[in-house]
Amino acid sequence: MPGSLSTLKVLFAALAMLFVVAGPAAAQLSFNPTAQAVQEDKLLNALKEGDKISGRVSIPDKMSSSLIQPAGRDWRDFLRNTLPIIGGVAIIGMIAVLAIFLMVRGRIRLEKGFSGRKILRFAAFERFTHWLTASCFIILALSGLNISFGRWLVLPLFGANAFSAMSTWAKYAHDFLAFPFMVGLVIMFLIWIKDNVPGKLDLQWIKQGGGLLSNGQHPPAKRFNAGQKGIFWIVIIGGALMSVSGWFLLFPYLPADVTTLQFWTVIHAVIAMLFIAAMLAHIYIGSVGMEGAFDAMGTGEVDLNWAKEHHALWVEEEQAKGQAPSGTTPRAMPAE
Ligand code: HEM
Repeated sequence: MPGSLSTLKVLFAALAMLFVVAGPAAAQLSFNPTAQAVQEDKLLNALKEGDKISGRVSIPDKMSSSLIQPAGRDWRDFLRNTLPIIGGVAIIGMIAVLAIFLMVRGRIRLEKGFSGRKILRFAAFERFTHWLTASCFIILALSGLNISFGRWLVLPLFGANAFSAMSTWAKYAHDFLAFPFMVGLVIMFLIWIKDNVPGKLDLQWIKQGGGLLSNGQHPPAKRFNAGQKGIFWIVIIGGALMSVSGWFLLFPYLPADVTTLQFWTVIHAVIAMLFIAAMLAHIYIGSVGMEGAFDAMGTGEVDLNWAKEHHALWVEEEQAKGQAPSGTTPRAMPAE
């Protein structure tokens, strides 16, 4: 008798729980899960009618009141099936394009070779800002790719234990380096915006394909050419979208509901793939792709011939401002 009494109590408690959790859903849908939750087909029909089945909770996290959200399946399918296609096409496609470009065009060399004379292109603070943003970006990109695809690409290589330890650190790095990345982004915007306003010269540069394919003269450019301005705006707009969407992922209680949170995860993931692909092109041209380019962000000084070939108008501006090139060849610059 005491046994059947406690069974009755448990049944009663279970019924009461069902009523609390699913009761308000009856108000949202034309279907009462309390009475018919045991019938799966009725439940599935109800899901077709509304965007979710939700109840009521008394804890602060209102999102936990969602019992079933069918859109979550589409979201999961997108991340599992569509995102790898977008990422694969963008990133592997970009690597393939750059490899073909290197094979066909070769390294972009200096027409007249190195002059041995240098001109300051980026001051120490500009280089610090660049490398702060760039190093954070590279770690964010690798750790982010691990979040998206590590389970399929990295786990089989290293095994569950190593993957788990590595992913934990990668996740911390991803969460915390987001902040210095955002700081770098804001400073980059402030210090370089004045040189990145699109103008008529950029159209000419684009029409000539930046002189990248021809071996002849590069179109005249001021401090940044149209290609570099493109990179700047990709970094600023892409970085802003990554920051806003990432902020919602860092603080998931901020979005109004779970559907909005899913929206931001999709934005974060898709923009990340395109952003990484674009930066691969930038990294290529700033290092192996173009002779003499890396110095600009390395020592800060570029060879005068490099500067004249790629940024002729900028060199004129600098000389007008009185920047005399330094170097081994003692020749008076302005007369040239
Ligand atoms: C190893 C990786 C990287 C290398 C070797 C590299 C190299 C360079 C070089 C050489 C320049 C100067 C080009 C010039 O003289 O005009 C430059 C500029 C710049 N970099 Fe990077 N960079 C790297 C990563 C990044 C990353 C990850 C970002 C942003 C997320 C970034 C953003 C920029 C921007 C906005 C500029 C100015 C605009 C431009 O020149 O395109 N860089 N970088």
